[in-house]
Amino acid sequence: MVTKAIILSGGEGTRLSPLTQKFPKQLIPLANIPIIDLVIEDILECGITEICIILGNNSPKLVKDHINEKFSSGANLTFIKQGDALGIAHAVLCAKEFIGTDSFLVYLGDNVLENGIYEYYLEFQTHNVPTILLSPVENPEAYGIAIIDPDDGSVFHLEEKPPKSNSNLAIVGVYLLTPAIIQYMENLEPSHRNELEITDALENMIMDGGTMKGRIIKGWWKDTGTLKEVLDANKKIIDKELGKNNIDRDGLEGHLKNRTEYSPTMNDLFRGPLIIGDTTIPLGNSIIGPYVSLGNEIMIDNCNISNSVLSGKEILIKGMTIKNSFIKDKIWVELKENELFVHSSM
Ligand code: DAU
Repeated sequence: MVTKAIILSGGEGTRLSPLTQKFPKQLIPLANIPIIDLVIEDILECGITEICIILGNNSPKLVKDHINEKFSSGANLTFIKQGDALGIAHAVLCAKEFIGTDSFLVYLGDNVLENGIYEYYLEFQTHNVPTILLSPVENPEAYGIAIIDPDDGSVFHLEEKPPKSNSNLAIVGVYLLTPAIIQYMENLEPSHRNELEITDALENMIMDGGTMKGRIIKGWWKDTGTLKEVLDANKKIIDKELGKNNIDRDGLEGHLKNRTEYSPTMNDLFRGPLIIGDTTIPLGNSIIGPYVSLGNEIMIDNCNISNSVLSGKEILIKGMTIKNSFIKDKIWVELKENELFVHSSM
């Protein structure tokens, strides 16, 4: 029986820097929902309420306060500070006492799955064989990869970010594990990126004759480690949320136009699929996005934003053209030829 889950919310978020310097990437909102909320909802959907959150050096109090405020009534929460990002296996080992002798689930706090994890959780409940989730990708070298038996999904080989991969199956950041993995984590050497890699611990277990299942997930999966992935995930979650609530685009725009703080005389467009937010006020001549999302207490005046997200409270943006953007508080960034440029702090 799996009754415990560990969520990893540490790490440095370097690929999203400087945006994530004082703001952990796990709190970035997609369709106005912080990523970590989506993770916790997937776990709660399995009926797991014993949840341990691993905190890093990046605003741990912000993460803890947010999760406590939102989920403490429905879950039994434990917070453990990992501190420096010494690797995923190191983060899991920080929760060794929490795990005890039980099987457990590890969910990387920056991963988003279209269909959640319930199906794989149920399977694991029946056979209790360590299971990893996999998804085909075009750039396997950017992930941990797996080679499996196509007939029964048995895992033959795992490797973390190989320079050249013989498999297009990336390891998704969800692991269903038995406590047998702990000794393999404890005996790891740091990898070339100087981290204790969960992938290496799992590979060592297989090399020792341990069995492991790889399940290719249905539906999309996003690791939100870069701005491009954040924007892709934002679009996908917006689509999902709007579909779930059965809100069509015209209906939503109609709803927005009826809001008292929105002035219908202004020449705004929004586009999207949208999802705006409370007391967010697009003013004159703002076009905003293809996909949008915004957040609460944002005022936009005469801006042509674009692929969007935005985020927090009390943002005022005036007279700017921002392209593939994701604005958080006082910083805004632009993605150009796959590089991040910080343009200004306002
Ligand atoms: O997203 C899937 C990939 O995640 C897998 O394909 C890889 O096999 C796996 O190693 C991992 O690779 P990343 O390079 O994407 O891991 P990242 O450093 O981004 O960390 C993933 C999450 O774990 C993120 O929410 C931060 C958290 N973390 C990471 C480290 C290294 C911690 O909490 N502590 C840590 O020490």
